[in-house]
Parts: sequence; structure tokens; C-alpha cells
Amino acid sequence: MTNTENQVASAEQDLPSIPSLADILPSFRLDGHVTIVTGGSGGLAHTLTQALLAQGSEVALLDLNVERLEYTARELQEFLKANKLPKLTISTWPCDIGDAAIVDEVVRAIPLKHNGILPDKLVHTAGYCQNIPAMDYDARQAELLVRVNLMGSLYVCQSMSRQLLQKSQRRRSVSSDSSEAGEAFPQLTNVSYVLIGSMSGCIVNNPQPQVAYNMAKAGVIHMVKSLACEWARYGIRVNSISPGYIATALTKKVISGSPEGAALQQEWTSRVPMGRMADPREFVGAMLYLLSPSASSYTTGENLVVDGGYTCW
Ligand SMILES: NC(=O)c1ccc[n+]([C@@H]2O[C@H](COP(=O)([O-])OP(=O)(O)OC[C@H]3O[C@@H](n4cnc5c(N)ncnc54)[C@H](O)[C@@H]3O)[C@@H](O)[C@H]2O)c1
Repeated sequence: MTNTENQVASAEQDLPSIPSLADILPSFRLDGHVTIVTGGSGGLAHTLTQALLAQGSEVALLDLNVERLEYTARELQEFLKANKLPKLTISTWPCDIGDAAIVDEVVRAIPLKHNGILPDKLVHTAGYCQNIPAMDYDARQAELLVRVNLMGSLYVCQSMSRQLLQKSQRRRSVSSDSSEAGEAFPQLTNVSYVLIGSMSGCIVNNPQPQVAYNMAKAGVIHMVKSLACEWARYGIRVNSISPGYIATALTKKVISGSPEGAALQQEWTSRVPMGRMADPREFVGAMLYLLSPSASSYTTGENLVVDGGYTCW
């Protein structure tokens, strides 16, 4: 019988065996894992990293903003202490996510600071927004934004997967006999990538013009589906979370950078059925769900929209 036939046959039993609680209730613990957090000194990343540490994951923070990265790492150590959590390695890595060679170099170096553990969880938040009318958008400015927001998403996923698969293949060639080697796909366990997209990848924000950002985020959402399909055979799950407006430095910059800032914020919230912007903490649940091998074991290629209902209207 094939695997599918076996599955169906066992599902048809009249009296299924009684599962243990551990079989039914998912775990969100991440002990023994290293999670890469890109945009590690950003507003959303800061809160998400606190949650990762609270669940026992070591973290490698990547960001362009080196000064802020060091500050964030110190603050996270304080967070561990204040909450009486066990010490965990927090490493920091200056990195331009839009440069494939640098990303690869950094990803390969991370295990050296984490006791040889290869990162197998990703929370990718690096990115930025620009409000420029499409008619006036300078080609190089638009290309740079797409390189960072879209291509950077691909680079970090590629580097992590290559590293994990190479290690798994090395193990197989040592442990299996030569007739079996190379016949089946290498199987990884518990690998999960969560990429922060945006509702801007699904709808067009109004009134601010942001064509490059919108197209890059739409690209991230579809890239996630493509990678999910290509890499399911290896046991790598890839999903995105698409937030609505969040109160972070990124939105503050847009609001405070324009004389009509207050009116703009008012306009945004009036379009949200829940009538407010999100707090970064409201994305922790979605992230932990997608990282957890037991809660989301059958979820891949999904774009989880967390927007207070914005895209429903
Ligand atoms: N704030 C919002 O309303 C909102 C809404 C939807 C989606 N998002 C997305 O959420 C993510 C996080 O946003 P945030 O609100 O925390 O913004 P943020 O500006 O606080 O954080 C973004 C981080 O990315 C880093 N970064 C920018 N370019 C980089 C590069 N080339 N290489 C490495 N790091 C780089 C920045 O230095 C910054 O620390 C972004 O991808 C953003 O597009 C935000």
C-alpha cells in the first residue's frame, strides 16, 4: 500500500486509539534551535525576538543598522534577566540583506557563535518603505528597494537551505551505504521560515503612493508559495505573515515625515474594521504558530494576513 492508502485505512478504524495530551496539544517551545531574525534591530523584530527567547530559542540578529543592533542585543539580555529566563546566546551580525554574497557569508558564520548549531528557523523582517509617486520614482531607488525587500527574502532562504541540506547530505554519505546514497531526497526536520510580507502585497494602500514596496511585498508572498512547493520534499516549510499597519519606527517615520501625518494616521485607522493600528505583540502568536512543528506541521506556502480586517473591506 502507498503512504496515502495507509493513512486513509487507519483513519477509517471505528475505535481510534486514545492519544496522549502531547499528541494533541501543540508545543511552541524552540529549545535547542537557533533562529535567524533579519531586520533584528527593527520594531517588530524586537518584540518577536523577545518571544523567541522566551520559548528557548537562541537568536542571530542581522541588520544594516549596527549601532542599533548592539543596543537591541543588550536590551534583550536585560529582558532575559528581568524575566528570570535562562541565559541564551544572542549574536549580532551587520548584514545588508540585499547582498547575496554577504548574506551567504553571514549565514555560514552563524553556527560558529552558536556551538555549531545550524539555524533552522527564520523570522525575516528586514525591509523598508518609500512613499514616492510612480511617475517620479527614480529607477535606481526602486531597484534598491526591490533588491532589499524582495531579493533579500530569497537570499536568506537560499543560504539557510543550502547550508542545512549540505550538512544533511554530508551525514547521509557518511552513514548510508553507497547504493542508497543520493536516491531519496535528504529529509530535514523542524525547518520553518517565516517571512514578514505586508497587506500591501495583497491590496494597494491609500492615499500614500508606494508602488515599489507594494510590488516587492506581493513578490514576497508569491516567492513563499514557490519555495514552499519546491522545498516541501526536504521538510522545509515556508510561510509569510502579512501585517496591516503596526505602530513601529517604520510607520512613525511616514507619519512624522509629512505635515499631514496626523490626518494620514486618522485615514489609515478609519479603514481598519477594528479601528486601530496593531501593536507588535499581536504578531507573536502567528509567528509561534508557523514556527512550531507540531502546531503548523501541515501549513506551508500560506500567507497569514493579520490586519485587523483591513483587507476585508
Ligand atoms: N510597520 C508597519 O506598519 C508594517 C506593516 C506591514 C509590514 N511591515 C513589514 O514588517 C517588517 C518590519 O517592519 P518594522 O515596522 O519593524 O520596521 P523597522 O524599520 O522598525 O524595522 C526594519 C528593520 O530592517 C532593517 N533593514 C532595512 N534595510 C536593510 C537591509 N538592506 N539589510 C538588513 N536590514 C535592513 C532596518 O535597519 C530596520 O532595523 C518590514 O518588512 C515591513 O515592511 C511593517
